[in-house]
Amino acid sequence: MTTSKPRALATVVLAAGEGKRFRSTKAKVLHDLLGRPLVTYVLDAVAPLRATKTIVVIGRDADAVRDALKGTKAIFATQERLLGTADAVRTADDALGRFSGDVLVTAGDTPLLTTDTLKSLLKHHRRTKAAATVLSARIADPTGYGRLIRNDAGDLERIVEHRDATPTERQGNEINVGVWVFDRATLRAALTRIDASNTQGELYLTDIVEILREKGERISAYVTATPEEGEGVNDRAQLAAVAATMRLRIARRHAEAGVTIIDPATTTIEAGVRIGADTVIAPNTTLRGATVLGKGVEIGPNVDAKDSRIDDGARIRFAVLDQARVGRDAQVGPFAYLRPGAVLKANAKVGTYVEVKASTVGEGSKVPHLSYIGDATIGKDVNVGAATVTCNYNGETKVKSRTVIGDGAHIGSDTMLVAPVRLGKGAVTGAGSVVTKDVPAGTVVYGNPARPQRTRKPRPGA
Ligand code: UD1
Ligand code: MG
Repeated sequence: MTTSKPRALATVVLAAGEGKRFRSTKAKVLHDLLGRPLVTYVLDAVAPLRATKTIVVIGRDADAVRDALKGTKAIFATQERLLGTADAVRTADDALGRFSGDVLVTAGDTPLLTTDTLKSLLKHHRRTKAAATVLSARIADPTGYGRLIRNDAGDLERIVEHRDATPTERQGNEINVGVWVFDRATLRAALTRIDASNTQGELYLTDIVEILREKGERISAYVTATPEEGEGVNDRAQLAAVAATMRLRIARRHAEAGVTIIDPATTTIEAGVRIGADTVIAPNTTLRGATVLGKGVEIGPNVDAKDSRIDDGARIRFAVLDQARVGRDAQVGPFAYLRPGAVLKANAKVGTYVEVKASTVGEGSKVPHLSYIGDATIGKDVNVGAATVTCNYNGETKVKSRTVIGDGAHIGSDTMLVAPVRLGKGAVTGAGSVVTKDVPAGTVVYGNPARPQRTRKPRPGA
């Protein structure tokens, strides 16, 4: 057994490009894919390879791309003029300094690439002792991609861009994924020989195949077993196609972990979301950010939840949640809006056309219809009648104040709770009350302004 030291590895991500086909005011690699900029996916795929250096070539919207990759170990190299992929690699090569070893180059617009595939490519490259290895994929519709041209012996001869290809060459369906491994010294020497003699007048990295062949270097192609990983994003239609694949990929992972996703095509689950077993997700549901769902949750259809926590057995339909917490077996919707700081305790219910912000709805309490609950603390077993509003904002003083409602209170329909205001345990307001003063425990108030009318008989057992 040989125990030769593994060769050093540097990785390069090309993310400087104009992204013309996006027709956008921002660089292509910054466009959103399931909650994150496109380019971050490539960095994630590359990171586990633990390269000595990771160079990201930036150009268009350089500052924003740098910002999107804050927290990664990337070293940034700025491509002054966007002359093509070969020039981008030359820019990276300059930043590599005295590095010697293998250089793995990837495009910034192939977000479906996996670490496994990159590892297999590297392994192949090292096993065949090639000077360069390109990753290829055989795909059903190769339109737009560079095609690998092989000779009769099956060896790679050159790569021709779609635009420069003849009709016969375009019939080939083996495409250049845009991922390469080079021996650093070989790469450096070959880059100087690339010129811009093509329909776009750009410096094409793909020309390197012929250059190396002429020099008698060994260049090989590694065909990926998972061709969908090669999908590049050059326009917005491709972005949508890649998002669809990514959605299915994430959905499959959750399905394997015991989650039922009724329609994966219309369910978006961002990468950071966690979901317990036996949870059922109905169509048109989007789970974003750091959202966590417990076990046996029923969510959807038509729910958009961001950075929210939903406990076991909760049921949520037609709702928007942002930084909200929904307790065990609680119910939300249809047509509810839980804004930041909304906390529903176990068995609580927030029903139809109800908005809750920075408020706690206590255990077993119900706000079933047409209400606004803002800056409020609602105790246990409270019933909030239809069209109740916590008037939390004083238009004259421009101050927001809190409403506190004690356990077992009953708020009549159309009650206006003018904050700051406190209602004691078991307090009752009549329909249409405008409550401007605190209500003692067990007291019934109504009218405008609401006045105490009587004390309430304690309920049997209460
Ligand atoms: C490239 C390949 C093509 C391959 C396809 C795979 C070349 C010439 N063509 O074409 O064979 O099938 O990828 O998706 O290599 N970039 C820079 N600086 C530049 C130009 C581009 O950093 O000056 C970056 C882009 O941001 C992008 C990547 O390089 O991330 C690829 O560029 P792009 O314009 O998308 O090339 P394709 O036309 O897709
Ligand atoms: Mg591309």
